[in-house]
Amino acid sequence: MTFQFELINWYQANKRDLPWRHTTDAYTIWLSEIILQQTRVEQGLPYFNSFLSNFPTVNDFANATEAKVLKLWQGLGYYSRGRNMHATAQIVMNNYNGVFPTLHDDLIKLKGVGEYTAAAISSFSSGEARAVVDGNVFRVLARYYGIDTAINSQEGKKQFFKLANEMLYKEDPALYNQAIMEFGAIQCKPKSPDCGICPLRLDCFAYNNSVVNQLPVKLAKAEKKHRYFNYFVCVEDDKILVRERQAKDIWQHLYDFPCIETEMNCTVMDGDFRTAIKNQFGDSTEITFISYKKHLLTHQIIHVQFFGLKNYIFNFSKQKELNWVLLNTLDELPQPNVIRNFIDENF
Ligand code: ADE
Repeated sequence: MTFQFELINWYQANKRDLPWRHTTDAYTIWLSEIILQQTRVEQGLPYFNSFLSNFPTVNDFANATEAKVLKLWQGLGYYSRGRNMHATAQIVMNNYNGVFPTLHDDLIKLKGVGEYTAAAISSFSSGEARAVVDGNVFRVLARYYGIDTAINSQEGKKQFFKLANEMLYKEDPALYNQAIMEFGAIQCKPKSPDCGICPLRLDCFAYNNSVVNQLPVKLAKAEKKHRYFNYFVCVEDDKILVRERQAKDIWQHLYDFPCIETEMNCTVMDGDFRTAIKNQFGDSTEITFISYKKHLLTHQIIHVQFFGLKNYIFNFSKQKELNWVLLNTLDELPQPNVIRNFIDENF
C-alpha cells in the first residue's frame, strides 16, 4: 500500500487546481479528456473553458454545426478529435437520451474514446475501478518497478495495463488515477526529474540503480513522411478562392486553398510542375512564388509553398470543393494553422 498512499499524499500536497477536477459530470470530464489527448494542460485549458461555455450541455454540443466545432477547435491539431466529439454528442442524444454514459463498457463504444479515455471518464465520474494508463503512468511504473519492456510494444502494453490495474487503489480509483498521472506530469518528469525530493525514491528501482534516464524504454518510431503541398492563392477584388478538404486525409473538412501535391519541392521553373498548374488553371496562368513554410505534424512533415496566380480559368463543375469567399469572412471558416498564419501575415 505504500506506493498508493505515497502517491495520494504527494498528490494532495502538490496537485494543480484544474477545473475538471471539481466535477463528476461525465460530459464535462469527457470534454477535458478529449481535449487533453495529445495536448498539454496549459494549452488545453482555454479550449476546455471555451467549449464548456459555448456548449454547456451535450445537447448544445450535438446541435452545433460541425463548422462551429472545428472553428472552436482551431489551433489544437488532430482535428479528427473535434469531428469525433461532434458525432459522439449526437450518439449520446440519440442512444442515451442525452445522459452521458459513465460506465467503461458504454464509453468504450463511443467515437474517439479509447481504453485510456474510457478508464479516465468512468473512474472520475462514477468511481469505477479502472486504471488509467497514459504516458505518465507508463513512466512512473517503468521507473518504480524497473520494467524495461518497450511501452509501445504489444507485450509492453499488456504488461503495464495488468500492473496498473493491480496497483489501482480500489477504495478511491478517481483519486488514485489523478494522483499517478499528476505525479508523472510534475514529479516523475520525462527529463531531469528531481529525484532528491521524491517521496517514492527509497523503493524506486530506477533511482536505486541509476537508470532513471533509461526508463521507460520506447521502440524507435518509423521515419516521418515528407509531403509537398503547393497552394495557389487566387484573389479577385474582395474574394479569395478556398477549398474545403474532403479526402480521408489530414485536415478533413478544414478550409485551405486550391492545392497540387507533388513528390518533391518544385519551383515555377520546373516544366512538369508548370504543366500540372496549367492543366488545372488554364494555359494563360501566371505563377508567382510567395513563400515557403515547413509544417510539422506527428507523423508527417509538410513542406508548404504558396504561389499567387493571375489570369487563371478554372472549372467549378470539375472542382466542386472550390468556392469563392469574401476575404473579410475568411476568419469564420476553420483552417489548418499553416493557412491561418499565412492569411494573418498576408491579408
Ligand atoms: N491529462 C489528461 N487528463 C488529465 C487530467 N484529468 N488531469 C490532468 N492532466 C490530464
